[in-house]
Amino acid sequence: MADRILVAYATRYGSTAEVAEAIGDELRKAGVAVDVQPVNEVQDLSPYRAAIIGSPIYVGKWLPEPQVFIERHQQHLRTIPIAYFAVGLTAADGGPEILKKAEASMDQVRMLVTPVDIGIFPGRLESGRLSLTDRTIIKLIRAKTGDFRDWEAVRAWAQAVYSKIAPL
Ligand SMILES: Cc1cc2nc3c(=O)[nH]c(=O)nc-3n(C[C@H](O)[C@H](O)[C@H](O)COP(=O)(O)O)c2cc1C
Repeated sequence: MADRILVAYATRYGSTAEVAEAIGDELRKAGVAVDVQPVNEVQDLSPYRAAIIGSPIYVGKWLPEPQVFIERHQQHLRTIPIAYFAVGLTAADGGPEILKKAEASMDQVRMLVTPVDIGIFPGRLESGRLSLTDRTIIKLIRAKTGDFRDWEAVRAWAQAVYSKIAPL
């Protein structure tokens, strides 16, 4: 049986890619082979016995690429364990209403394929890196800038997911 795990992600400014890499590194520590790839570059799902798919949240939603990927491959994805993660600043504030909103960003993909687990992690927002449009939006919503990523939480989640998808 295939014994690799796929960690696939979308990103606009790189912070979700680094979260995906951290998840991959943690899984490798458990001795498993892992491919960490932008979701658009994944050609073939047959080598994988599980997949972890993540996106940053933009204006309450996942980026389109992972949603399109999950929709396209839903039949195959339903046959292996799947976990989803979302990266967004709202998670840095942590209130229940705010976390609910971050969780809602995954509603569509959860309806397509039910995950064994979901993770919601704080991200990074640095106005100097943003496009003009994105900078205007974050000014309007008065978002706090900074790097709020919590590597310990990311690694702990990767371990928890691994315990759910590890072979018996
Ligand atoms: C225009 C814009 C809109 C955003 N909207 C949300 C949002 O609705 N909810 C949220 O939690 N984070 C939001 N964020 C924060 C991003 O999700 C966060 O910066 C994330 O780390 C970006 O990931 P990336 O670097 O992989 O693109 C927004 C950021 C920008 C620039």
